[in-house]
Amino acid sequence: MPFSKAQQQAIDLRNKNILVSASAGSGKTSVLVERLCKLVLVDKISIDRILAMTFTEDAANEMKDRLKKRLQAETQTDYIQSQLALLETASICTIDGFCLSIVKNYYYKIPISYKMSKSVASSAQANKAFLDAYNEACNSINTNDFVKLKLFFSSLGKTEDDILSNIRDLINVAMSKPDSNEWIRSLMNKPCSEKTFNWFFQYFIEQIESMIEICKNMKEADEQLFSLKEENLNTCLDFLYKKDYAFFKKQFEIYFNNTPGFKKTINKVSYEKEQGEFKKIEGNILNVLYEKEEYDQDLNNNIERINTFCTLSLLTMDIFAKKKKEMEIIDFTDMEHFAYKLLKQPMIQEEVRNKYQMILVDEFQDTNELQENIIQCFARKDNVFRVGDIKQSIYGFRQARPEIMQGHMDKEDENSCLIVLDENYRSNQSIVEFNNEFYDHIMNTTFTREKLSPRRYCQSWNSQAKRCRAASCPFSLYRISKLDGKPGRKFQ
Ligand SMILES: Nc1ncnc2c1ncn2[C@@H]1O[C@H](COP(=O)(O)OP(=O)(O)OP(=O)(O)O)[C@@H](O)[C@H]1O
Ligand SMILES: [Mg+2]
Repeated sequence: MPFSKAQQQAIDLRNKNILVSASAGSGKTSVLVERLCKLVLVDKISIDRILAMTFTEDAANEMKDRLKKRLQAETQTDYIQSQLALLETASICTIDGFCLSIVKNYYYKIPISYKMSKSVASSAQANKAFLDAYNEACNSINTNDFVKLKLFFSSLGKTEDDILSNIRDLINVAMSKPDSNEWIRSLMNKPCSEKTFNWFFQYFIEQIESMIEICKNMKEADEQLFSLKEENLNTCLDFLYKKDYAFFKKQFEIYFNNTPGFKKTINKVSYEKEQGEFKKIEGNILNVLYEKEEYDQDLNNNIERINTFCTLSLLTMDIFAKKKKEMEIIDFTDMEHFAYKLLKQPMIQEEVRNKYQMILVDEFQDTNELQENIIQCFARKDNVFRVGDIKQSIYGFRQARPEIMQGHMDKEDENSCLIVLDENYRSNQSIVEFNNEFYDHIMNTTFTREKLSPRRYCQSWNSQAKRCRAASCPFSLYRISKLDGKPGRKFQ
């Protein structure tokens, strides 16, 4: 298959860290596999000196198969035969698989037992150990604090099971960080994170913007009234943009008390639907328009719950780790954390760095912070080849952080190169267009071929998509400190 110019460049360029950024079906994996084949066949880099990481076992096997076929098609020299022999044990694997191989090699330096390094927990084992750990943690934290936490959850219509699932979510996020304990501790003693704080204003901004939108559409019915409302609401919006809650509240009350109401019928025309929608939004705002002090009080009350929640998470994590050690099993997050711990040791780091002449990473957009740190531990200054699709990272799947990919895209130094592929070889044009439209909508950007560059994606990511992600983020404390979706909702 003839490769495009950009694809060929991605296959042939050497001595640089390369990031290939492109949307689905643009040939990223094909390019990565071709590069792998060429490294072995043309550059004569032995397969055991290459690390190729994918995100599924199937993808890894397929990659191995393709390389195997290419090797079999060559004249069977000693070199080709040795490569075929090495292929079975080659580091063409998932990142977890790679981490497990590090753990198996150096288990005694963690230190864990040989048996433990080889026993991957079944999900039933891991679940049971987690549940036991959680129950023990609940029994050992301060009873009073725990009761308050339970009351808090029940005031939000949540059950004790929800505490458990929220703790699980929080721990999942924490485990994707290089220092999980430290990350959880960093959440303590703060009423809410900056993100939550922004969300709080965002909530009001969205409501007011919707009201303004309705006013604009209603001007043909009553120019004077709706211009007046719009003007007042715009002033509210200004205070929200300045993050001045007290003035926003005051201004909204002025608007509400001093502008005439929205009538169902204007000049004998019925606007029942618009009026209903408008009043509903107005009501949403009024419902949570508390005094600033009340919010502050609410947030302060939250600190105690957040601290209990974090303490419970830390304890659960700690007991869970001990249980796994007793049972001599490791789970997937252990593999990464143990590997990271090992790879930070200078001697191991050096060994692994010397071993891999080339590192290839597929589906890079799914890489989380810990995995990125693991790669950075042993990457040389110019030997990592990454391919990914920034659009796919907005879901926060596996705690992937789009910022990581963005960071590499923005990196412009003598060792880094960004290659963009913009042909789609899999989908027909209507699917491509739908996809573009869809992301255009999410990312609030005008999508044209010229604007397809990843940099633009990243810039737009910073605006709208971030919100989408925060809204769907499993991170429990968002839910707790944003009071389950409504800022300022009261609890006892
Ligand atoms: N230059 C090319 N000419 C023709 N077909 C191509 C070309 N490059 C890739 N393809 C084909 O396009 C399809 C998609 O390629 P590939 O799976 O490599 O894309 P991808 O960018 O990795 O997709 P995804 O984002 O889903 O992982 C494959 O069937 C592949 O064979
Ligand atoms: Mg692919």
